[in-house]
Amino acid sequence: MSIDDGQTGGNAAETGRNDANRVKIFDTTLRDGEQSPGISLNKQEKLEIAHQLSRLGVDVIEAGFPITSPGDFESVQAIAREVEGPVICGLARTSSQDIEAAWNAVKDSERPRIHTFIATSDIHIERKLQTTREDVKGQVRAAVAQAREYTDDVEFSPEDGSRSDVQYMAEVIQIALDEGATTINVPDTVGYTMPREYAAMFEELYRLVLGLRDVVVSVHCHDDLGMAVANSLAGLEAGCRQVECAINGIGERAGNASLEEIVMLLHTRESSLGLWTGLETTEIARTSRLVSRLTGYPVQPNKAIVGRNAFAHEAGIHQDGVLKERTTYEIMDATTVGLRSNSIVLGKHSGRHALSKALEEMGFQLDGQALNTAFKRFKEIADRKKQVTAMDLEALVTDELREEITGYALESFDVEASSHRPPHARVSITLPNGESAAGSFTGDGPIDAVFQAINAATGAAPTLSEFTIGAVTEGQDALGEVSVVVELGGFTGAGQGVSTDIIDAAARAYVRALSVSVARARAGEQALGLPEISAP
Ligand code: KIV
Ligand code: ZN
Repeated sequence: MSIDDGQTGGNAAETGRNDANRVKIFDTTLRDGEQSPGISLNKQEKLEIAHQLSRLGVDVIEAGFPITSPGDFESVQAIAREVEGPVICGLARTSSQDIEAAWNAVKDSERPRIHTFIATSDIHIERKLQTTREDVKGQVRAAVAQAREYTDDVEFSPEDGSRSDVQYMAEVIQIALDEGATTINVPDTVGYTMPREYAAMFEELYRLVLGLRDVVVSVHCHDDLGMAVANSLAGLEAGCRQVECAINGIGERAGNASLEEIVMLLHTRESSLGLWTGLETTEIARTSRLVSRLTGYPVQPNKAIVGRNAFAHEAGIHQDGVLKERTTYEIMDATTVGLRSNSIVLGKHSGRHALSKALEEMGFQLDGQALNTAFKRFKEIADRKKQVTAMDLEALVTDELREEITGYALESFDVEASSHRPPHARVSITLPNGESAAGSFTGDGPIDAVFQAINAATGAAPTLSEFTIGAVTEGQDALGEVSVVVELGGFTGAGQGVSTDIIDAAARAYVRALSVSVARARAGEQALGLPEISAP
């Protein structure tokens, strides 16, 4: 049995692999993933993630759902215009306006795709859509035909497919194929199916719809019962050759199938599965960190592939085994997913040119004001840390990106704390209208005091629902990284902050989370007519 053959990327001709067994990776981090509670990425952040997904080598980027808001439309359009390599896909319901919006958003891509969907389960048709099976068929016919007028690359999904009557779903899929759909994706929308059932459903569909053999058939699984990756694999073993998944498994409710788990499963067990992907696996860890930072969703320490402990050995027997022969306890090499590669090291004497060169090597294009700001923060960090590594630079640049969020910004803070008196904090905050506001508070601990002082300055009183603290690298002088989730008027916001000073990192994270929740609450007010919230 071979373990971790170390092959990454490449095409069939180079590697001797069978093209028919290549699995396309359809990344939906920016669409289904962005539907996670509390996540709200701006255009700049989405572009940054899309560029990284292109480096990772995904086949398709589902960049968003353009009809849902002008912001979503603009982000999809910007990705379609700027990001080269993958197919850029926009999601649409079956209505004519949806399809048109999706097309207008993706049409400038070199490889545009429209993905249209409608539910085919009786519960969705009767209760949600309040229509009939016949009407759904008509909508599919019209939607796929319209999409095909715009592009040759059209994907159709029968939503809630795993709970649909398979005979009826086959008839709907046949209509989509007759109208020219080129990819058929059958989702387990509610994360209910089991591997055997999902595979049997595809086997039945292949039997009922012969045309499925000539198009790409796709899996899309949610993780409500923790089965998303297992179900996706079952679908691939049944003949599907596209898998829809998200970085760190983010997505609606319990999330989508995790991209890194699927890819490393196929990669590590290639000799037994015979399936392979074109991914550059060494970019996995970096993509995971970027998504975690920009979404504010931390990765659990024991998360497969990308968790902090995924390659750590605690028990003495394991450590001893790995020291003697890595494969005694490791089925993958950490470097295959891009962990433990910390080759770039700068110090406090490194200049602007060295920083710019290092950032360029890492794929960041920074110039002008952005480079000035990055250099200033680099110097602050280099003064306190002996060595600044690639991981530190990555955290720093991503942290700066977060400043783009329109909302509140932390100007300064001051905390007095001792073992004799409760800590007292003073903060100065820039408000969304550009004015400065000051606040102070005596709290239970220094971080509590700073958070309450920020509340006093902004007039907002969110509930803190999550607070996590970690280190970017190892060692006493490591950069600290804080993630915060707050809730305000029923709207959640997530934020992260990075600094050598943990109070500074926490304050940055809190201000960002607050900005996101206020922006969401304001958007919600417009859409839902909610009463004014307490934030200014
Ligand atoms: O889960 C789902 O059904 C979806 C569809 C839009 C494909 O996300
Ligand atoms: Zn989904």
